[in-house]
Amino acid sequence: MQVIIRETKEAATELAAQVVARQLARKPNTVLGLATGRTMEGLYARLVRMHRDEGLDFSLAVTFNLDEYVGLPPDNPGSYRYYMNHHLFGHVNIDGRNTHLPDGMAADPEAAGAAYDALIKDHGGIDLQILGIGKTGHIGFNEPLSAMFSRTRVKALTPQTVAQNAPLFPRPEDMPRLAVTMGVGTILEADRILGLVTGDSKAEVFAKAVEGPVTSMISATALQLHANCTMVCDAGAADRLTQRDYYEWIFENDPQWADFR
Ligand code: GLP
Repeated sequence: MQVIIRETKEAATELAAQVVARQLARKPNTVLGLATGRTMEGLYARLVRMHRDEGLDFSLAVTFNLDEYVGLPPDNPGSYRYYMNHHLFGHVNIDGRNTHLPDGMAADPEAAGAAYDALIKDHGGIDLQILGIGKTGHIGFNEPLSAMFSRTRVKALTPQTVAQNAPLFPRPEDMPRLAVTMGVGTILEADRILGLVTGDSKAEVFAKAVEGPVTSMISATALQLHANCTMVCDAGAADRLTQRDYYEWIFENDPQWADFR
């Protein structure tokens, strides 16, 4: 894992957007894994501007989102399909047929989860998985005790996650208690992982994710097992890291980041 600390949320978001843009430039038919949540809104806004002002091209890109609420149709403003259309897909030249989210309306969620994993495989796997970390330490909606080898499936959401995300619903009481999420195992199969974590409210869980022991109680600790994972954060989220100087030293000296410094 590499940890890149930028002073502000804007600078962290900009660096993450540059990583995505370079990936798309290098491989226009990139398979992107996408995340939702407040943190990602800034990233998608930046990618939309890059498309509009600099011609960032999504025409051949394929996307797979991490998760979707159970029981919400795509036109429900609380659904992640709605979120993705609103923040990204509706503003760039991506082919809607190439955008995928788990099916929260499936009659047989188990079969739908297996089909989602199979579809990712059919596309050659995810080249670059973007993700954030929830306050419970979840990646996707892999709440505490999610198996490290788990696959796409239905998970019950914790009270903490409900408290974190319910305000994003027009009527908070309408937030579902279940979601379909890529498994931790599914996520770890991506070729490369790019995490974006900002704000002091994430400082404690982020320090555990990066520096704590690997445990299914905090799914984000599984990212330590991935061979090519970069976590980008702002000073707020970095506040509880104990090895900050070391991460900064690596960033300053690793040639792969020369253009980003
Ligand atoms: C939701 C998503 C997660 C995301 C999290 C972060 O719970 N399922 O994939 O990491 O939000 O949320 P925020 O960026 O709003 O803190």
